[in-house]
Amino acid sequence: MSDRLKLLTPATLTLENKSYSLPTYMGVEGEKAIDITKLRSQTGYVTLDDGYGNTGACESAITYIDGEKGILRYRGYPIEELAEHSRFTEVAYLLLYGELPNSEQLLGFSSRLNESSIVHEDVHHFLSGFPRGSHPMGILATMVASLSTFYPVPDQLDEATEIQIVANLVSQVRTIAAFSYKKSIGEPLVYPSIKYRYTSNFLNMMFASPVRDYQPDADIDSAIDMLLILHADHEQNCSTSSVRTAGSSLANVYAVITAGIAALWGPRHGGANQEVIKMLEQIHAEGGDGTEFINQAKDKNSGNRLMGFGHRVYKNFDPRAVVLKQHCDKLLNKPGLNDPLLDIARRLEEIALKDDYFISRKLYPNVDFYSGLILRAAGIPTDMFTVLFAIGRMPGWLAHWREMIHGEHVTIYRPRQIYTGEILRHYQDINQRA
Ligand code: ACO
Repeated sequence: MSDRLKLLTPATLTLENKSYSLPTYMGVEGEKAIDITKLRSQTGYVTLDDGYGNTGACESAITYIDGEKGILRYRGYPIEELAEHSRFTEVAYLLLYGELPNSEQLLGFSSRLNESSIVHEDVHHFLSGFPRGSHPMGILATMVASLSTFYPVPDQLDEATEIQIVANLVSQVRTIAAFSYKKSIGEPLVYPSIKYRYTSNFLNMMFASPVRDYQPDADIDSAIDMLLILHADHEQNCSTSSVRTAGSSLANVYAVITAGIAALWGPRHGGANQEVIKMLEQIHAEGGDGTEFINQAKDKNSGNRLMGFGHRVYKNFDPRAVVLKQHCDKLLNKPGLNDPLLDIARRLEEIALKDDYFISRKLYPNVDFYSGLILRAAGIPTDMFTVLFAIGRMPGWLAHWREMIHGEHVTIYRPRQIYTGEILRHYQDINQRA
């Protein structure tokens, strides 16, 4: 246990007329926890917590969230301040190494990212093998896993190698993402260039071509950079927990990050931003005001949910959605960037926030509700949205991986279960089976 945890009065648990004392702790922001690490050995019981909503799987000093109050902080800094004043590269450093960098540290980190941005030339052979129309998340997951073969990781990681691995992943995820887009539209790959900062480098690789220079737009560049900051970490979410789970087996770090990418892909997690735009486009095409869609989302049998609404942790508002909505309003007001989907999104939000179904379940817009509109304004195609999320989340995944492997000891993640299948039965010859 970290010395930052305060020991509280033990809890008493009574089971089958026997009492057990369980240690309880309080974190630095007042979050309380009952320590059940010895529960099974002492009582024979395990806890049952489908979806881990009440399970603190680890201690962590990276990100703090108070879902009731809509608070999100990276290493103690409020997300609103970072989104307003910082750049993604600086936030990545903060998450990874714990402090905001001074000028020298930031320059060193940015230079290393630049130098690490070119992927091994043979990686391109993989790209040519993917079928037309491959989803860029499938390509990203495969290519990131393939890096483990191009950049072998020694069993004993020294500090210099670890720093380089982190730089490779933070930098190359962006190169691979842009390559996967170029592959999907059949254009030649554009290589990274030291002329650009992190985000504009990515946009240049996406949109420049041998016959067309990329014309950077400062507002779009800073909106995408801010979007990456907002996505950079979110404590023990589904993909980060997947990274920690895979990482706890001490697997190769490129494979570990691939586990995170796979989990992020799903429509209930990072894939929701793509689904939000599909939903808004459908409402736009059908010409309604969204009421019909909301009615379907309230009907469990329809299989539809209001995408971009609801969050496991935020039960009042998602602070990232607030920042994004403001930027969205500003960006989409620029001449040439107006998007009819913004009005539909605003209307949907207005209707939902007055509807008892959403109010009683504490369902509010999450980060994905407005992010797609900003990405559309930047010309990013819908099926690349989740890839952008992955670029943003990379420093967070790596910060959690680092925190875990540098912890006092790495415990393999291995939950228990309550078995509800067949009880003992014996093998029957195939001719005797019903
Ligand atoms: N639309 C309609 N109903 C919803 C929605 C929604 N978007 N989200 C939750 N509900 C309902 C559920 O049907 C359930 O109703 P019930 O109590 O009558 O059975 C209740 O609200 C609670 O839902 P859960 O799924 O139990 O809530 P949970 O905390 O497990 O799920 C989640 C959170 C997965 C984000 C969910 O709200 C959802 O599916 N939202 C839409 C997808 C989405 O936007 N995902 C992005 C999340 S943010 C991120 O990953 C970066």
